[in-house]
Amino acid sequence: MQEEKLNNLMNKYSLSDNEKKEFLKIVNPIIEHKEFQRRLTKEFLHHSDITLGEHILEDALITYKLSKKEKKKNININLAVKIALFHDLYTIPWQNNKENTKVKKFSHKHGFRHPIEAAINASYWYKDEFKNEEEAKILIDGIIHHMYPLPVTRTKRIEEDELKNYDLFLKLPKNIQQMIKDSANRTKVFSYSLCRSKYPEGRIMSKSDKMVSFHQIKNLNSLTALLTGKNKSIEDKDKE
Ligand SMILES: [Fe+2]
Ligand SMILES: [Fe+2]
Repeated sequence: MQEEKLNNLMNKYSLSDNEKKEFLKIVNPIIEHKEFQRRLTKEFLHHSDITLGEHILEDALITYKLSKKEKKKNININLAVKIALFHDLYTIPWQNNKENTKVKKFSHKHGFRHPIEAAINASYWYKDEFKNEEEAKILIDGIIHHMYPLPVTRTKRIEEDELKNYDLFLKLPKNIQQMIKDSANRTKVFSYSLCRSKYPEGRIMSKSDKMVSFHQIKNLNSLTALLTGKNKSIEDKDKE
């Protein structure tokens, strides 16, 4: 099932046989993880009725294609695609979820908080990918600022930020904790950090995310869900 979906997506973006091989070499070891597999199920709906896993894979494909086109920018395709695979690995489903809507502080809502949760989860679940310091910096900064031009919650007082995976943050190596804090404290605007990624890999992924998200938002209910966390279209569907 998963292979078929992935193959259809690769055909949608006209990958050659060699490109498919190159892309799958990066993607397969990441999607095998049980937490990624969960995000390919209806437990995690992202926009409308598209699963989070499908959204991520489409992002990864567009990132791959755009990175190949931008030869002059010297983009490390491996890292750019991995940022896409990690960027939305947040902890709990965000739509129609009481655990999520009860978050009081506006700056701690899912939209502003989830890139930090994703950076924590990715660096905890895929430790080996973050062993090289230079690569880890590029991955973390790309994940944290993928929503640009939207801001991200600042991590100055990360323990108070209602993160749903603060327990995992405490288990991360000190250098990774520091990278996450440093990245989410750049360019301070009140309670937020507002800037694009320092690295071209993060910037190209952020561009791909906008392209994918806008065509996956199918109706007004899905759009307003981005603000409220409640998606009436999915609720109605569940009742049918
Ligand atoms: Fe996101
Ligand atoms: Fe995304």
